[in-house]
Amino acid sequence: MDLQELTAMYDMTGRVVVITGGAGVLGGEMAHALVGCGANVAVLDRDTARAQELLRRLPGGPGRAFAVGGDVLNRPSLQQAGDTILQKFGNVGALINAAGGNHPEATTAADRSFFDLPEEALRFVLDLNLLGTVFSCQVFGVGMAQRGHGVILNISSMNAFRPLTRIPAYSAAKAGVSNFTQWLAVHMAQQYSPRIRVNAIAPGFFLTEQNRYLLTDKDSGAWTPRGQAILAHTPMGRFGQPQDLLGAVLWLLSPAAAFVTGVVIPIDGGFSAFNGV
Ligand SMILES: NC(=O)c1ccc[n+]([C@@H]2O[C@H](COP(=O)([O-])OP(=O)(O)OC[C@H]3O[C@@H](n4cnc5c(N)ncnc54)[C@H](OP(=O)(O)O)[C@@H]3O)[C@@H](O)[C@H]2O)c1
Repeated sequence: MDLQELTAMYDMTGRVVVITGGAGVLGGEMAHALVGCGANVAVLDRDTARAQELLRRLPGGPGRAFAVGGDVLNRPSLQQAGDTILQKFGNVGALINAAGGNHPEATTAADRSFFDLPEEALRFVLDLNLLGTVFSCQVFGVGMAQRGHGVILNISSMNAFRPLTRIPAYSAAKAGVSNFTQWLAVHMAQQYSPRIRVNAIAPGFFLTEQNRYLLTDKDSGAWTPRGQAILAHTPMGRFGQPQDLLGAVLWLLSPAAAFVTGVVIPIDGGFSAFNGV
């Protein structure tokens, strides 16, 4: 293999990629990179206004992007989004499941014990992260099964390996995402085609809107004890930047990862390798 062949693997020209939760912090960064590598990206989010806003910030090419509404917990809405994407760009070649997140009320606190976590908040977190991923894989994976090729990339988390304190539902849901990633990788390869790959990334700690309330003091902006503990347990000594995910995302979507399926790649500055001593 020479340099030209190697770099050609990361040329996404003509690839159709759907990103659920694509208007979010991490999904938006992935959309940016994929358009830059030539892909045609459908930014699927329940809030199309935010998706449109993201599009205004995307580079002018070489790929293209458009916003499409869809709720990952509502299969008919995903199917409708799928029809729109088919008309606009053609068959979906890759799916990134970036819709997900925690809920403050599913988080234990001084005034909210584990025993008092409301059912609604627990269901919200379990459904959004796990079922939202499963439903999206059903709706966008069926065409991959029919055509015999495609790539799915799920977003797990550090807490899938060992749960983090305070967020039981989010930890369980992401452990479910990692487990489901392995299950679907085997199922697709054995039942449909070894050319359908299913993998996940497990981002470490990225300061975003969904975890800011846990990591920084809302008045002073200083690190909370939890934020300090994360930094102390991250050998690289910093929080991740959304761009830190891109190398692994492009690799897993590309033919460079042709023999890689069923893996969950930590992108965590060494957090999961460090025992604390
Ligand atoms: N940030 C981190 O440190 C971190 C670490 C590990 C893993 N992750 C995971 O990475 C993924 C992306 O996280 P992020 O930080 O980019 O979060 P984010 O900025 O909140 O992005 C998530 C996006 O998903 C959308 N969404 C929520 N529910 C949806 C639904 N039912 N249907 C369609 N879209 C929906 C959100 O819209 P709304 O704003 O309208 O809710 C938002 O645009 C999530 O799975 C998250 O759990 C994040």
